Amino acid sequence: MGSDSVLVTGGAGFIGHYLTSALLSQGRRVVVLDDFSSGLPLPSHPLLTVISGDIADSSVREKALNQVTSVINLAAIASVPLCENKPKLSSRINYFAAQDLFTEASKLGVSAIIQASTSALYGVPNQLPLIEESSIQPIGNYGLDKQRAEDSLLSIRNTPVCSLRLFNVFGVGQKRDSPYSGVLTIFSDGIRNEKPLRIFGDGTQSRDFVHVKDVVSAFIGCLEELEKNGLNSIISGNKFNVCSGKSMTLLEIVEAFSQFSNNEIDIVFESPREGDILHSLGSFDSLNKAIGWTPSQNFTANLQELLL
Ligand code: NAD
Ligand code: UD1
Repeated sequence: MGSDSVLVTGGAGFIGHYLTSALLSQGRRVVVLDDFSSGLPLPSHPLLTVISGDIADSSVREKALNQVTSVINLAAIASVPLCENKPKLSSRINYFAAQDLFTEASKLGVSAIIQASTSALYGVPNQLPLIEESSIQPIGNYGLDKQRAEDSLLSIRNTPVCSLRLFNVFGVGQKRDSPYSGVLTIFSDGIRNEKPLRIFGDGTQSRDFVHVKDVVSAFIGCLEELEKNGLNSIISGNKFNVCSGKSMTLLEIVEAFSQFSNNEIDIVFESPREGDILHSLGSFDSLNKAIGWTPSQNFTANLQELLL
């Protein structure tokens, strides 16, 4: 395969679909490694190879790595409750398999490795907005295993690497059938189907919602930067927040949705979720300074799209 080929693990997932399609539209070859445990089939494309298998299986990783020159690792148990219920599975996929992938890719001399990390690393924030130097105190297995994976990637010195800490990602295409989908997906689904929205707590909790297309532009921007400047790149060995830099409360979200919907929106207030963080807000200054990345400013239009 040519020198422009990228491995996207977890490429059949929510973010993976957008990232794979964007890379293909740039004319790049893409190898997707996915076990389809939560991912969905990808449309066929002459530049796309799909390997169906478990990232924890060394022979599957070998097959995938032998075909590529760069790696983006999205494969994960992305459900926080599943990681809590199955701690061994969480560690096997989110930490050990990721670590093995990074080590093997580095040994093969790839041009870039990028990890999908998470704002869950920060736990309960002790300052807002969160910056990359804010204290790391993950709550639960998901955050802990993601932290270990990030640490292991950033300890690699002989390969251009970076880790992107994604905040609350939203957009069309996120799975609607899970009670643990993102709140914007659950709310838009409820509004479309005229079901009451359940707010856990009083609705004053806030989140930094970043659109999936902005997340994709961050991955591609970092990939191109690492491939171009290698170990001399300003981003090599670093971690970056990928966020909108703005936060909205759930009550503000419901208000914004109500402007686009003819349906009456019913709200049911329930007890707060155990372990719920009250406020989350990130700063994207570091990534902006490094590669000029900025999130799009059309939150309202992106929200409206969820209702179509
Ligand atoms: P997703 O569940 O839609 O995608 C994950 C993909 O990984 C799925 O296609 C799944 O089938 C695949 N996968 C799971 N286990 C696998 C295994 N053992 N072998 C091979 N493939 C496997 O989740 P997403 O929202 O697209 O998230 C992508 C990445 O971004 C994940 O690493 C997640 O932790 C991270 N992230 C997401 C968010 C968010 O808000 N969506 C926030 C922070 C970080
Ligand atoms: C999100 C991520 C999680 C990550 C965490 C920290 C998702 C799905 N989860 O969790 O992986 O660890 O950020 O980075 O993106 N809510 C309701 N009603 C609902 C659903 C949710 O009130 O029907 C509330 C929740 O209690 C929470 C807020 O909405 O207060 C956001 O919830 P959610 O979208 O699940 O995201 P996080 O909990 O922030």
